[in-house]
Amino acid sequence: MDYIFILGTHPAWSVAEIASVLGESGLYWENERILVKKDAEIAADSLMKRLGGTLKIAQIETFVPADTNFAKIAKICADILVKKAARGEGKLVFGLSDNGVGGRFAADKLGLNIKKELKTKGISARLVTSRDKELSSVVVGQNKLLSKGAELIFFRHGSDLFVARTLAIQPYKDLSRRDFGRPSRDDHSGMLPPKLAQMMINCAATRNFSDTLLDPFCGSGTIITEAMLMGYRQLIGTDLSEKAVKDSRANAEWVRELYGLDIHPKFHIKNATRLAQFFKPKTIGTIVSEPYLGPQRGLDNIEAVKTELQALYTQALDNFYQILSPGGRAVMVWPVFFGREFLKPALDKWKPVKALPEKFSHLPWVKLSYRDTLIYHRAGQRVWRELIILEK
Ligand SMILES: C[S@@+](CC[C@H](N)C(=O)[O-])C[C@H]1O[C@@H](n2cnc3c(N)ncnc32)[C@H](O)[C@@H]1O
Repeated sequence: MDYIFILGTHPAWSVAEIASVLGESGLYWENERILVKKDAEIAADSLMKRLGGTLKIAQIETFVPADTNFAKIAKICADILVKKAARGEGKLVFGLSDNGVGGRFAADKLGLNIKKELKTKGISARLVTSRDKELSSVVVGQNKLLSKGAELIFFRHGSDLFVARTLAIQPYKDLSRRDFGRPSRDDHSGMLPPKLAQMMINCAATRNFSDTLLDPFCGSGTIITEAMLMGYRQLIGTDLSEKAVKDSRANAEWVRELYGLDIHPKFHIKNATRLAQFFKPKTIGTIVSEPYLGPQRGLDNIEAVKTELQALYTQALDNFYQILSPGGRAVMVWPVFFGREFLKPALDKWKPVKALPEKFSHLPWVKLSYRDTLIYHRAGQRVWRELIILEK
């Protein structure tokens, strides 16, 4: 089966998590998309729920020479829709996305031709259009394309035009509800966007979901609540702040009820630099965490902030090493100040792991830091996030 994964705003992060979840084999680069070739069928819906960096998963239906005329392409598309589109009540609803066809690809003209073709087969259809060449997940979702019809995605590969049919879109409503609708927030300390938390958890590449996952700087509990939804059962969040632990408990309770889960994470007030006094050695399977990133304001004396954080991280990492089981991973995001000031805590015992498989690290759209790490930032941010994966 051949699939195409349409990637989010930080495509290199998306690829890192896809490779971690699906394995590197059968993954190919295709412009800013990833082609996935697998023998077995992919469970697109459940996969989509756990991938923070993928916008759409589509199955490749067919390909034709790129110079094939419109009438013929319309016939092919109509056949795909007849065979594969979902049918609700009323008209079949379909949309066409140009995901890199190149040249003049007139989706509306093609759409009209497809409608005519469908009419000859006795099917009345409605074409969904948008101002963008590519329909967003929101447009696909709002128009119920996946339950009342289909979205077809077109892209060029070599001298061929590929046609793919969308199987799943990012659950944007759910993600936004978990981000902005959670009962306890801490805008002062900062909270991870759920998508970023998912990508970090996926990069831990845990195979045994009954192992314990710990977030030692749990804040409002984003990593723990996302891990609850991803199948982890043994979850622990610790934080120095009483408020953080209270917030995490409230948010975990909310997620448990909202999704009807029977998972009960534990939360404790603990200093990350003294965790080895609390947890027995080698009892934690995975650590995923966004630690204290430094003061939100007053970044005037960067050197002093760096020195403070390096000391904190060095001590915390020493404790993590003691409590992690052999082969366990610590996945963290560290701050990069103004996009150039990196932290260098002591890492003597750890084995650093590259997030991105080698075969993807030289692509034109992949921007790695000088030390080959992935960076996450939005325009205007002073503190960027660097993905660090360490293995014991
Ligand atoms: C950036 S916030 C984490 C936010 C969290 N990822 C979320 O999405 O809600 C950092 C957290 O580290 C905690 N913290 C700072 N120093 C600590 C220490 N020495 N041990 C444990 N937690 C600490 C703070 O209380 C804060 O909640």
